[in-house]
Amino acid sequence: MCGIIGYIGPRKASTILIEGLRRLEYRGYDSAGIATCHEGKIFVKKGAGKIDELVKKLNFSSLPGNIGIGHTRWATHGVPNDENAHPHLDCTGKIVVVHNGIIENFQELKDELIRKGHVFRSDTDTEVIAHLIEENLRITGNFEDAFRMSLLRLRGSYALVVMFADDPERLYIARKDSPLIIGVGNGEMFMASDIPAFLAYTRKAVFLDDGEYGVVSRDSFIIKDIVSGLPKQKEIHKIEWTLEMAEKGGYKHFMLKEIFEQPKAIKEAIYGNMKEVSKVAEAISKYDKIIITGMGTSYHAALVGKYLIQRLGKMPVIVEEASEFRYEYEDLLDKNSLVIAITQSGETADTVAAMKIAKARGATVIGIVNVVGSLATRIADMTLYTHAGPEIGVAATKTYTTQLVVLSLLSIELGKLIGIDVSEIEDTIPKLPELVDVSLKMNDKIEELARELNDKRDFFYIGRGINFPTALEGALKIKEIAYVHAEGLSAGELKHGPLALIEEGVPVVGIAPSGKTFEKMLSNIEEAKARGGLIISLGDDIKLHSVSDVFLRLPRVPEELAPITYIVPLQLLAYHLAVLKGHNPDRPRNLAKSVTVE
Ligand code: G6P
Repeated sequence: MCGIIGYIGPRKASTILIEGLRRLEYRGYDSAGIATCHEGKIFVKKGAGKIDELVKKLNFSSLPGNIGIGHTRWATHGVPNDENAHPHLDCTGKIVVVHNGIIENFQELKDELIRKGHVFRSDTDTEVIAHLIEENLRITGNFEDAFRMSLLRLRGSYALVVMFADDPERLYIARKDSPLIIGVGNGEMFMASDIPAFLAYTRKAVFLDDGEYGVVSRDSFIIKDIVSGLPKQKEIHKIEWTLEMAEKGGYKHFMLKEIFEQPKAIKEAIYGNMKEVSKVAEAISKYDKIIITGMGTSYHAALVGKYLIQRLGKMPVIVEEASEFRYEYEDLLDKNSLVIAITQSGETADTVAAMKIAKARGATVIGIVNVVGSLATRIADMTLYTHAGPEIGVAATKTYTTQLVVLSLLSIELGKLIGIDVSEIEDTIPKLPELVDVSLKMNDKIEELARELNDKRDFFYIGRGINFPTALEGALKIKEIAYVHAEGLSAGELKHGPLALIEEGVPVVGIAPSGKTFEKMLSNIEEAKARGGLIISLGDDIKLHSVSDVFLRLPRVPEELAPITYIVPLQLLAYHLAVLKGHNPDRPRNLAKSVTVE
């Protein structure tokens, strides 16, 4: 849940590292640090706090050298303080480590190393790696052997970059269950948890796979298998993302930029999948057991996917959060099962674990993923990409709507395969970018609404059918970034308990597009109104006007596509509430974009 970076080349390492860490800060932001090596000496500066504060306080750029490593932390082992911030040194001060992941057997290793006389300065699991390498270097006298021997002792997950004062022309890297990518430059190399960290310098990337380690110098790298020690052939990928895509481009926050990028992202998702989707639909149609899994916002997309596939493909679908799936479905899976895993990052620990379990049971796994080359894409039998471009804001926005686009395209194809009339939905697909634009034009009105709602402490979002997940996602957005209590409910459930919580002035957001459930939604909204609820409704039918305190009128779309257009005003509402409350929506407290630990 952290971001790591390494650099070796002709430039001043500290500048590259700080810049890279800023781009990785979405992965963790409670502490940060960098280490460089110059004239055989290691220099470290680190501390608790956000990168910008630390840059001012610690003057990172004073560190000399053309080789270095850096880290931005989201605490797992040990509270966020100066000592626990990475990089971590061994006893000699000549070996320095940055790590993303969790070393599960760290206590056992730590006890062993303490018995051997090592002195620890932090409470982290990471520090054991530095001391373990020190110990193995003493035995082998060889940097690579010491590194590999140490890796063989580690249990858990890691992406690592290690630097030795006595081997200042190389960095040592490894990955298991946490992402690590090499950016291949011209006479320089970058290593990072995510592509935006080096996008300003190179668009050539090599993705490390689980169980691989590497030795990287300015002009070359060699990747080997940790267990066998044998070299592996690696492909250099050309990254299509541009630097501009990973920058704020005049917007106050990444999240706002990403919300406004949705028309473009949706277009890319539509046209980027035209060819692939029918092949995948054909594969899906051969199965009768379909399970969709994911976490967070991707789980909500999975829920929309269930309604879509059931409605258009007429196939029953089970949806399960990946963290639950892992423990409950193992015995139910076999070669007749089809699992669709949805993940923006392609690195979420629970989702990846669910995919691995499904594969081990002989199931076919289809990934719906945003990050090209990520772990999920390498596990999946087939992958559909969302083509949303880099998403930096922790709260998912454009990656959600593009996931929904992919699921819609897939379901349309499934419908066609069984002769269902999907023409209205299919004809609306190319219009989605414009339709989302209409939702975006409400931005000022929604900012105004956020001001009116700023003192409210509880929100209820209600929806039915395919828009029940829209209610869940709308509520999640304001919990995540505005830190306001919100519940997403199926409107039918309202009477079975939550209605007791509705009293004068409590905001109830009703998601009510025309369709199968409109009349029922209208009566649920009326029930909430009768209890004093402050009704904010989203819909296309004027009947909503008289029952609502605020009516956000959206263009009429086939109900199956409403989750795509209806979530946009709710994203904006959460964004403005967060900003009004003085929170940074890009980096909500306690949360990270990519949850690579369980
Ligand atoms: C974290 C993020 C969410 C995201 C979820 C799943 O919780 O904060 O925004 O929806 O992980 O991530 P994935 O990359 O698998 O879609």
